[in-house]
Amino acid sequence: MARVLSCIQPTGAVHLGNYLGALREWVKGQHTNDVFHGIVDLHALTITETPGVLGANSLDLGAMLFAVGLDPDVATIFVQSHVVEHSVLGWIMECTVSYGELSRMTQFKDKAAKREADFVSAGLFTYPALQAADILLYDANEVPVGADQHQHIEITRDIAIRFNHRFGDTFVIPKAVTPAEGARVMDLQEPTNKMSKSATSDAGCVYLLDEPAAIVKKFKRAVTDSDSEVFYDRDKKPGVSNLLDILSAATGVKPADLATRYSQYGPLKADTGEAVVEMVRPIQERYAELMADRGELQRLLRKGADKARTVASATLDRAKNAIGFLPY
Ligand code: TYM
Repeated sequence: MARVLSCIQPTGAVHLGNYLGALREWVKGQHTNDVFHGIVDLHALTITETPGVLGANSLDLGAMLFAVGLDPDVATIFVQSHVVEHSVLGWIMECTVSYGELSRMTQFKDKAAKREADFVSAGLFTYPALQAADILLYDANEVPVGADQHQHIEITRDIAIRFNHRFGDTFVIPKAVTPAEGARVMDLQEPTNKMSKSATSDAGCVYLLDEPAAIVKKFKRAVTDSDSEVFYDRDKKPGVSNLLDILSAATGVKPADLATRYSQYGPLKADTGEAVVEMVRPIQERYAELMADRGELQRLLRKGADKARTVASATLDRAKNAIGFLPY
């Protein structure tokens, strides 16, 4: 049984990219692996300045994780700040990664550029060190993520290898796993950019809690390519291929096979919209039920944090012993 860890930031509504790239894979893996999934509020703090929002967003996201199908009896779902070991190992990781390595992270460069007029926290820069701690604390063999997280998993491996080399064999070296379809869901309006909550307009980003009519409309208005042929080629036909990828992820039919069924863009857009509406319908229903009992949600998240802490504290002790801190 592999140990699996992956996390998501409570920075706003969950979108189709999060679901197809990550959450759905987490659900699939929960019965065959020992899985830990964190709501990483400390990571979200790198770009949060308003009081109260982190807690509220963490609870909403907890409901969403259970609504997509994570079962609190088998999967360990926890809030990062409830497990203090993340912050402690995060610091140790900051001392194991170099300034140069952090400077090469494309997500930092992109995010810092987007925030040029805003406060750019040092936490945004050292973010990958905390992410490495998240992963290494759980001795994770596999980290199921969308393709945008590959560089962060690579740097985690580099940090773990360096630590093991310096202080002796301590951490498991993890590997990223990505789904065949859905690893990189693109913005419906700008299909060369990944779907993201920080996009300039909501028209290209489909949220799991969008009304069915809004979902259908977003797909109807999706930007396609200049000719009118339907075939699957992510470089030559980014818009159409994105729709085919999404429809494939929703139906289980390969994108190239789906392409042979369409000769026009209109029906492809309509069918993809409908397939997504059907896919999210049960999630929306469960989410509404779960949000009706916030006390129970908090109880489930506390239970997850207690379980996560038993694993995380043992790993942190191992790391501190390997370094050779003066015992307490
Ligand atoms: P976050 O919160 O941005 O996204 C959560 C997950 O959703 C995936 N994802 C996508 N997949 C496909 N297409 C897209 N357009 C798309 N957009 C997002 C992400 O790849 C991710 O798997 N740094 C991480 C959070 C994190 C983490 C960790 C992940 C913190 N610690 C430890 C794994 C392990 C992040 O910001 O994800």
